[in-house]
Amino acid sequence: MRKRLIVSAAVGALALLVSVPASASAAQVGPGAAGIGDPYYPTAGNGGYDVSHYDIRLKYQPATDELEGTTTILATATQDLTRFNLDFVLKVKEVLVNGRTAKFAGTGEHELEITPARVIAKGSPITVVVRYADKPGEVERGGQSAWLRTPDGGVAANEPEGAAWWYPSNDHPTDKATFDVSVLVPDGTQVISNGTSTQSSRAGWTRYNYRQAKPQATYLATLAIGRFDIRTDTTPGGLPVLTAYSKDLGANAGAAQASVERTGELVDWLSGYFGAYPFGTVGGYVPNVPTGYALETQGQIFYSPAQFARGANTSVVVHELAHQWYGDSVSVQRWSDIWLNEGFARYSQWLWSEHENEGTAQELADYVYNLYPADDAFWTVKPGDPGADHQFAGAVYDRGAVAVQALRNAVGDETFFRILKGWPTERKYGNATIQDFQAYAERISGKPLGELLNTWLFTAAKPAAGSAGVVAPSPARSVAADVLPEPKSWKKIQETNTVHEHRD
Ligand code: TRP
Ligand code: ZN
Repeated sequence: MRKRLIVSAAVGALALLVSVPASASAAQVGPGAAGIGDPYYPTAGNGGYDVSHYDIRLKYQPATDELEGTTTILATATQDLTRFNLDFVLKVKEVLVNGRTAKFAGTGEHELEITPARVIAKGSPITVVVRYADKPGEVERGGQSAWLRTPDGGVAANEPEGAAWWYPSNDHPTDKATFDVSVLVPDGTQVISNGTSTQSSRAGWTRYNYRQAKPQATYLATLAIGRFDIRTDTTPGGLPVLTAYSKDLGANAGAAQASVERTGELVDWLSGYFGAYPFGTVGGYVPNVPTGYALETQGQIFYSPAQFARGANTSVVVHELAHQWYGDSVSVQRWSDIWLNEGFARYSQWLWSEHENEGTAQELADYVYNLYPADDAFWTVKPGDPGADHQFAGAVYDRGAVAVQALRNAVGDETFFRILKGWPTERKYGNATIQDFQAYAERISGKPLGELLNTWLFTAAKPAAGSAGVVAPSPARSVAADVLPEPKSWKKIQETNTVHEHRD
C-alpha cells in the first residue's frame, strides 16, 4: 500500500516533469501580442491568429455620418489564446467569439482587446463578430481621422493604416484575406469598394455588395460612399473595369475622366512589363475629397480631384496600376520594405514617359541625380530603410527609381525586364523583403547586387559618380551635368506626390 503510494507519487512527479516541455508551449498560452512585430509601427497588426476572411456589413447615413456595422472575421489561432486584439477605433457594442459573448476593451491608440469566454487552442478556427456604431469622421487619433468626410458621404483610403475607421482587423500587410463588403445606403447614394459588385433596392435603401476574392491587405481595402457616376466596361484584354466619379468634381471632372478612363488601356500596357494582371477586376474612383494623393487600393484605385487640377494625368494612373503588382499582389513584409512598392511604381512612370517620348528612364535618373546637390537633405533618406517618419519621402520614390535604373544598367535590358516580370509572378499574393528581391535578382542575373543596392538604398549620402551602379549623365550628352533639361514628363510625375510633400 505504502509502496504503491510512493510509486504513484513518483509517477505524479514524472508526469510533472513530462509536463515541463509541454509547458514550454504553455508559455504560448496567453494573450496574443498587441502588435505583429513591425519595427516602424509596433502596435500595427496583432499576434496570435491569422485571418482568412472579412465579412463587413454596414449601414451608413451620409447626412449624419452615422455608421453601423457588423464585421465577421474568420481566423485561425497560431497559439493557445486567452485574449487577442483587433485594430479598431470605432465604438463597439458587442463582441462574440465562436458564438459566445466575449469581454472587450479599447486600449492604446487603436487596440480592441478581446477576452473570449474560453481559451482558444492553437490551430483551431475562430469566428469573431464585432457589432459597432459611430461617426467615423469624428473619431481622431493623433488629431486626425482617416475617414475623409465629404458633403455627400465619406471615404476610407489611407496608408499605412486606415482600416480601423471602418472595420476591425489585423491591420498589417502580412495578414492578407478575402473580403465581402456589403453596405446599405439611402437610394441615390452610391458605394464603391473592392472587387465585383451587385446591388438591389428596397423601401428607399440600396444595398451594394462587393467581393474581393483574391488575398488583400487591410490597407488596400477601400470604401467610398457618396453621389457617384459609375461606369462599367471591360479592358481590351477582357478584364472587368469599374470607374466612378463624384458628381461634384466641378472643373476637374473632364481631366479626371480623361485620365481614369485610360485604366483599361494602361493596365493592359503594364501587363506587357509585369505579366498577367493579378486580380479579377480593375478600376478607379475620384471622390470629392480635398486631399492631393492617390492610393493603390486593390483593383479599385483611389484618386484625388486635385491630381487633375492641371489637366489630365495618365502618369498617376500608371503609378497606381503598377502598384497592383508591386505593392498589392506582392506586398511588403515590413513597412521598411516600402521601396519594393514606391521605387517600382515610380519607375513604371519612367517607362511610360519613355513610351510617350517625354524623356527616357535614363534621362529621368540623370535628372534626379543632378537635381539635388550632395548636401541636400534628399540624400539623407535611405530608400531601403527610410524610417517611419520618411516612409513616403520623395527620395523613396525618386532615388528609389534611380536604384531601379542602376539595376537595369548593371544587368542589361534583357535580364532587367525578365526580373521586372518574373518577380511579381514568383511572389504573387505574398509578402517579401528587399533582401528577398536582391536574392531573386541575383539568381536571375547571376550577378552579385549587394554593393549596388547598398549604394542606392542603404546609404544616407549622395552616391559618388563612379561608385557601383551610379547612373551618371551620359558622356554623349552635349549639356553640362548640372544644366540637364527637365524631362517633359517631370511635372506630371511629380503631381503624383502631394502626399509626401505634406508629410515630411
Ligand atoms: N502609396 C501612395 C502612392 O504612392 C501614397 C500614400 C502614402 C498615401 N501614404 C498615403 C495615399 C496615405 C493615401 C493616404 O500612390
Ligand atoms: Zn505609390
